[in-house]
Amino acid sequence: MIEIPSTKENLSNLFRYWVNLYDNKRFPDFEAVYQFVFEEDRETYYFYLSVSGGKAEYGVGKHKSSSITIYSPVSVWLDITSGKLSGTWGWLARKYRIEGSLHYLKMLNKVFFGKEFTDKEIPGVEDKIQDFEIPGKRIWKKPDKVLIINGSPRRRSGFTYFYLQYLIKGIEQTGTEVEVIDIYDKKFNIEPCRGCFACWTKTKGNCVIKDEASALIEKVKDAYLTIYAFPLYIDSIPAKLKAFLDRQFITVMPVFVPYHNLTRHPLWETKERYMALFSISGLPEIEHLDPLVETFRGIARNSHRPLIAPILRPCAESFTAPPYREYLKEILSSLEQAGKELVE
Ligand SMILES: Cc1cc2nc3c(=O)[nH]c(=O)nc-3n(C[C@H](O)[C@H](O)[C@H](O)COP(=O)(O)O)c2cc1C
Repeated sequence: MIEIPSTKENLSNLFRYWVNLYDNKRFPDFEAVYQFVFEEDRETYYFYLSVSGGKAEYGVGKHKSSSITIYSPVSVWLDITSGKLSGTWGWLARKYRIEGSLHYLKMLNKVFFGKEFTDKEIPGVEDKIQDFEIPGKRIWKKPDKVLIINGSPRRRSGFTYFYLQYLIKGIEQTGTEVEVIDIYDKKFNIEPCRGCFACWTKTKGNCVIKDEASALIEKVKDAYLTIYAFPLYIDSIPAKLKAFLDRQFITVMPVFVPYHNLTRHPLWETKERYMALFSISGLPEIEHLDPLVETFRGIARNSHRPLIAPILRPCAESFTAPPYREYLKEILSSLEQAGKELVE
């Protein structure tokens, strides 16, 4: 009868194998103690790996003075050692956690596997800041088509669309085609992001949720200019549109790249793409829209799609009724003009 080794035996075999991989020629002076805390089926297994005086050893139990502690489910660590899961991705996605300096984690890969534990293990990663992201270098091309995501829950009967029609009119007068997607249309089932990070750790940019969001994200990826149009909701974005923006997390890579004084994720696919914001509010002062504009500046920066214009209409309802209605004509013709300027 074949005996299936216990988890503890499997882990012991793994450490026995590791000890033999120690590269004492390249790293003769390296000193460290790695404490591992593995969990599986409510059992906890303690192992340590020590490197000292040009020798590597492993032991079962807790070491008195560890340099770093790695807490991981057994299956995650086995996936990492078999090459199924990248150590970097696993760490970024919090599949396992560490206490101590990240330096020792990086050294673990170098000292035992001769590999650099860096972002470079994910192909195609480089600083992907393109000229179009830098205002002075940008060369705007008038688009053949513009995509508008209408995020008003009242779809075509809301005030958002009432004003939006005039912007669309202006855009169309320049010969540019417009496609409007009503995100609140029931045919678009868009679940909120589950935060599972599978798009980072397993599926390389694909979402495990199978609904209409993926096809719509493809549309946004293809559109040279996407205009997000919606009413201000609690100083922010209506929930379904926010869910759609969250789902676009699949477009960013699981690595961190410096950008001026900030860190960003590069896109899996970099294309020259822009966005514009079109929002209306009930309250009269334009300051109510300030937090939203700031949010969109952040979204634009982190999605590598420069925000070319915030178009804002506070006091939206009031202009459609007396005594303010007399201003409406001017507002609507300004919107038409804005549509032309936006694409040209
Ligand atoms: C849930 C909800 C939250 C809102 N929050 C704000 C707000 O924070 N500030 C504001 O000025 N208007 C707020 N409004 C007003 C809307 O922005 C305004 O009524 C808008 O014209 C609605 O556009 P729509 O007809 O396209 O839905 C809110 C409306 C709703 C229903």
